[in-house]
Amino acid sequence: MIKKCLFPVAGYGTRFLPATKAMPKEMLPIVDKPLVQYAVEEAAQAGLTDIGFVTGRGKRAIEDHFDISYELEHQIEGTGKEQALEGIRNLIEGCTFSYTRQMNMQGLGDAILKGETIIGDSPFGVVLADDLCIGEDQGVLSQMVGLFKQYRCSIVAIEEVPADQTHSYGVIDGEKISDTLVRVTDMVEKPAPEAAPSNLAIIGRYILTPDIFEIIRNTPPGKNGEVQITDALLTQARTGCVMAYKFRGRRFDCGSVGGFVEATNYYYEKLYDSNA
Ligand code: UTP
Repeated sequence: MIKKCLFPVAGYGTRFLPATKAMPKEMLPIVDKPLVQYAVEEAAQAGLTDIGFVTGRGKRAIEDHFDISYELEHQIEGTGKEQALEGIRNLIEGCTFSYTRQMNMQGLGDAILKGETIIGDSPFGVVLADDLCIGEDQGVLSQMVGLFKQYRCSIVAIEEVPADQTHSYGVIDGEKISDTLVRVTDMVEKPAPEAAPSNLAIIGRYILTPDIFEIIRNTPPGKNGEVQITDALLTQARTGCVMAYKFRGRRFDCGSVGGFVEATNYYYEKLYDSNA
């Protein structure tokens, strides 16, 4: 059973400056809910209720969001506005929250390694909250937990991207197991289109086995001088097994302004337009 889920949220979110100068990117709302709450809801639905954040400077608002706000809650008690807090209250009641810090932003691999104190020695999920995922029938993490039960190895979520976008992702190659599953044999971080082994890009959902920590410790900084999780996963794929899963559903890249606006329009139509 996977119970733990890590949320690396230490990044600077420079693509959203000046909005992210003093506010975490993960607190940007899609309509009326911050990105990080969508992400924790997806984890909780998959049964991953031990939530661990790898935070950095200027990210205090995330801790406050997953806590009681006495004054505000007292103020709106008994009014219709209480309903707006139902979702977050349920999460606070159903999950535990732990926090650790990444002092220097040395890459996603380094951020995940900083989470070792929270995770320990069990398989765990990793969610990048700026990738907002909508599962077709069940959440993307739930789909991946189901697969983990079968394969018992690390799993990365993938999606097909246009060739001119491979430079923004880790891109995989591998042996096709089924229409939705590939056993990874190669992985390249942010390749130019001509260097990309395929158009299958890794998105922000992972299930990792805990041996990844030792592998990351032995992984030197790669692209951009950062410790890349892609490099560590390639080692794991070559010495053990990593599966890549084409999930059922849709992803919005809310780390970019275009993806953020698309997600906002999608949720606005879903939540409000249909009632108009
Ligand atoms: P990104 O590169 O997309 O996020 O990292 P960023 O650095 O915050 O955004 P930009 O590019 O400057 O706009 C993917 C995820 O990994 C986390 C980020 O918080 C984000 O959720 N991350 C990345 C860390 O926690 N630490 C790092 O050192 C790097």
